Amino acid sequence: MSDDVILSVDNLMMQFGGIKALSDVSIKVKRNDIFALIGPNGAGKTTVFNCLTGFYKASGGKIELNLRGSHTNVIQLLGERFQFADFLSPKRFASRLYYKMFGGTHLVNRAGLARTFQNIRLFKEMSVVENLLVAQHMWVNRNLLAGVLNTKAYRQAESDALDHAFYWLEVVDLVDCANRLAGELSYGQQRRLEIARAMCTRPQIICLDEPAAGLNPQETEALSKMIRVLRDEHDLTVVLIEHDMGMVMSISDHIVVLDHGNVIAEGAPQEIRHNPTVIAAYLGADEEELV
Ligand SMILES: Nc1ncnc2c1ncn2[C@@H]1O[C@H](COP(=O)(O)OP(=O)(O)OP(=O)(O)O)[C@@H](O)[C@H]1O
Ligand SMILES: [Mg+2]
Repeated sequence: MSDDVILSVDNLMMQFGGIKALSDVSIKVKRNDIFALIGPNGAGKTTVFNCLTGFYKASGGKIELNLRGSHTNVIQLLGERFQFADFLSPKRFASRLYYKMFGGTHLVNRAGLARTFQNIRLFKEMSVVENLLVAQHMWVNRNLLAGVLNTKAYRQAESDALDHAFYWLEVVDLVDCANRLAGELSYGQQRRLEIARAMCTRPQIICLDEPAAGLNPQETEALSKMIRVLRDEHDLTVVLIEHDMGMVMSISDHIVVLDHGNVIAEGAPQEIRHNPTVIAAYLGADEEELV
């Protein structure tokens, strides 16, 4: 994988019983790009995200991340069986237990890839800032003994996590809501909180699944600006699934179009906008969507 490619997906296949949701999907995402994955409903976009992020283990193919200076084979990472050595190493043992509880998402997150969900997933009974503190569990020193003794290092780590949470609340314009329950926020605010939560895990790639769904035009415009800021000022690569074609065409560097589990086109926004295969795939959905 060349150095400017941060995520490489080769011949990805995903089968649910008799249904093949993804047949043969290959994509390459370049570092610092805003990369969009589009296609009609049911095309397989969320399934690609679920495989990338370790939420599902793909049935076939290869997913490779080039993050934090090392290469991670996602499917291999998820497929590692419990070895006897895992019992001997507390770190590996803890990692295996997490895997049993949360699936592979946290492993891929730890490798540097974070995501948001099409159907928002927040701890709705927790405050906004608590949601962001929980997200940092893998970075903050949660040594039990240090916690009980309330050591200086422990207090420092807690205070750093709080600073980090407020930093991202500021970026997503939610400082005023810090102590409200996440479940009480408006839809648009919850979507922004999900982005802040993902950013709190210090990713190098963020995967956003329909971040503009349910937003009004002003909120969508603000979101587009925020995504550009993330890319430009936080050295981030953005992978975006979105149905709002105005937004996709205006902010993307590169677009891949999926239909029925296959890539049917890829290129710059101008090429995609006028591609007859893409227009035909969208005709069944909504003739106006692409123009
Ligand atoms: N867990 C699952 N079990 C069975 N089938 C699934 C599962 N997840 C997805 N599918 C099927 O895979 C196909 C692709 O679904 P997916 O959610 O990836 O589409 P999508 O492109 O994200 O669509 P949308 O734009 O509506 O969000 C659909 O036919 C869907 O029913
Ligand atoms: Mg989807």
